[in-house]
Amino acid sequence: MKITVVGTGYVGLVSGACFAEVGINVVCVDVDKKKIEGLKNGIMPIYEPGLEEIVKRNYASGRLQFSTDLGEAIQGSEVAFIAVGTPPGEDGSADLKYVLAVADEIGAKMSDYIVVATKSTVPVTTGEKVRAAIKAALEKRNSDLTFAVASNPEFLKEGAAVEDFMKPDRIVIGVDDERAEEIMKRLYKPFQLNGDRIIFMDIPSAEMTKYTANAMLATKISFMNDIANLCELVGANANMVRKGIGSDPRIGTKFIYPGVGYGGSCFPKDVKAIIKTGKQYGYDLKVLQAVEDVNDAQKHVLVKKIKKHFGEDLSGLTFAMWGLSFKPNTDDMRESPAIVIIDELIEAGAKVKGYDPIAMEEAQHIYVGGKITYSKDAYDACVDADALLLVTEWSEFRIPSWDALGKLLNGKVVFDGRNIYDKKYLAELGFVHYGIGV
Ligand code: UDX
Repeated sequence: MKITVVGTGYVGLVSGACFAEVGINVVCVDVDKKKIEGLKNGIMPIYEPGLEEIVKRNYASGRLQFSTDLGEAIQGSEVAFIAVGTPPGEDGSADLKYVLAVADEIGAKMSDYIVVATKSTVPVTTGEKVRAAIKAALEKRNSDLTFAVASNPEFLKEGAAVEDFMKPDRIVIGVDDERAEEIMKRLYKPFQLNGDRIIFMDIPSAEMTKYTANAMLATKISFMNDIANLCELVGANANMVRKGIGSDPRIGTKFIYPGVGYGGSCFPKDVKAIIKTGKQYGYDLKVLQAVEDVNDAQKHVLVKKIKKHFGEDLSGLTFAMWGLSFKPNTDDMRESPAIVIIDELIEAGAKVKGYDPIAMEEAQHIYVGGKITYSKDAYDACVDADALLLVTEWSEFRIPSWDALGKLLNGKVVFDGRNIYDKKYLAELGFVHYGIGV
C-alpha cells in the first residue's frame, strides 16, 4: 500500500513515519525544500521522542521517502493526507489557504481514484471545501476521475506523539464513501492490536470531534485553575481537592492539575476557533469563552504572587526561571505561559535567568530572544537570583538539591507554577513556597 502525506510539520511527519514503521510505503511531501533536504539527511525539524529513530530507519529502508513534488508523490497513492498548517487568521479562525491549495493541486495532478483525508485540525465544513476544490480542479482539466474526501483528525500529544500514533486509544474517521471506508480500514489495521479502535462517522462529526476533545480538555484545566484560585482564598488546598474529585471515575484524575495555564499549538488555537465557528452560526459558546478568559488570566497568576511578595516594582531583582516550553518533553514554545511571565517580569524591571532542558534554542531564536539570559543548567540559573520560578514541570526539576539551591539563591523563595513541590517540606528547609491554589 502506498500513501502520500502532505506537510512535514508535527502531525505530518509523525504520521508519515509511523505509517512507514508498520510497512506502508509513504511519501512525505513539503514545499519547503530545505526541510525536505534536511530530512533526507536525518535532520529533524522538531524534537519528538522516538521520531528521529523511526524516520532514519524507514528512510534507509526506502519505505519512507521525502519529496517536494506532490504531483509525482500521489501517483499510485491510495490515500493523500493533508497535514499542512492552519494558522489562526487575524479574526481567530483557522486559515485554510494551505489546505485548499493542496486540494487544488491534488485535483490537478491525480490520475486515479484517491482518498483525500484531512489531518490538519480544520473547522467544520472544511471537508466540503476540500471536495469542492478538488472537483473544480478536475473540471478544469475535463477529467471524470473520482475521489473521496475524509476527515481523520489526530489526537497526538507533543512529547508522546509517536507512542500515541502507534497505540491510539481511538481512530476517528469521517467518510461518506464505502470504497474510502474500506481503504482507511486497511490502512489503520496495523494500529489496532487491542481490538477495533476505529470509529467511523460522517465528515462534520469527525471535524467536530477533534475540536470538542480539545475544548473539553481545556475546559477541565481552566475549571481547575478557577477552583484553585478560590481554594487559595478560602484556605483550602487545591491538590487535596484535585485528589478528592479525581477519584470519581466520572471526573477522572487527568487534566485537572492547576498551573500557570495551558499553552501549545492546539488548545489555545482550537478553543478560539470553535468559539468563532459558534459565532458564525449565531451561537454563543459561553463556557468556552470563559475557558479562554480564565486561561489568559491564569498566565499572570505567578507574577501576581511575585509582586505580592516583593512589591509592584521588581527593579534590581533577578529571577531564576526553570522551564520555558509550554509543557515538558518538547521544545515547543508556542503560547507558552513562560512568554507572558517573562514579559511581565521585565516590564516590572526584573531580570530573568532562564533554563530549559530542550527549549532554550527555540526561546532564544523566536520567542523571547535576548530579553533574558540563558543559563547552562538549572543551578547556574539560581546563582544570585532572588527567587526560583518553576514554570514547566520537566522531570529533572522534581527533586533538586535544596541545600545547594539555598546557598546559590539570594532569597529562599520558590514560586511553583505547577505545584510540584511540597510546601511543608520546603518550610522545614527554610524556604517560602508559593503554589497554585495550595
Ligand atoms: C493536546 C491534546 O492533548 C492532543 O490530544 C491534541 O491532539 C493536541 O493538543 P498537546 O498540545 O501536545 O496536546 O498538549 P497537552 O499535553 O494536552 O497539554 C496542553 C496544555 O495543558 C499544556 O500547557 C499543559 O501544561 C496544560 N495542562 C495539562 C495543565 O495545565 N493541567 C493539566 O492537568 C494538564
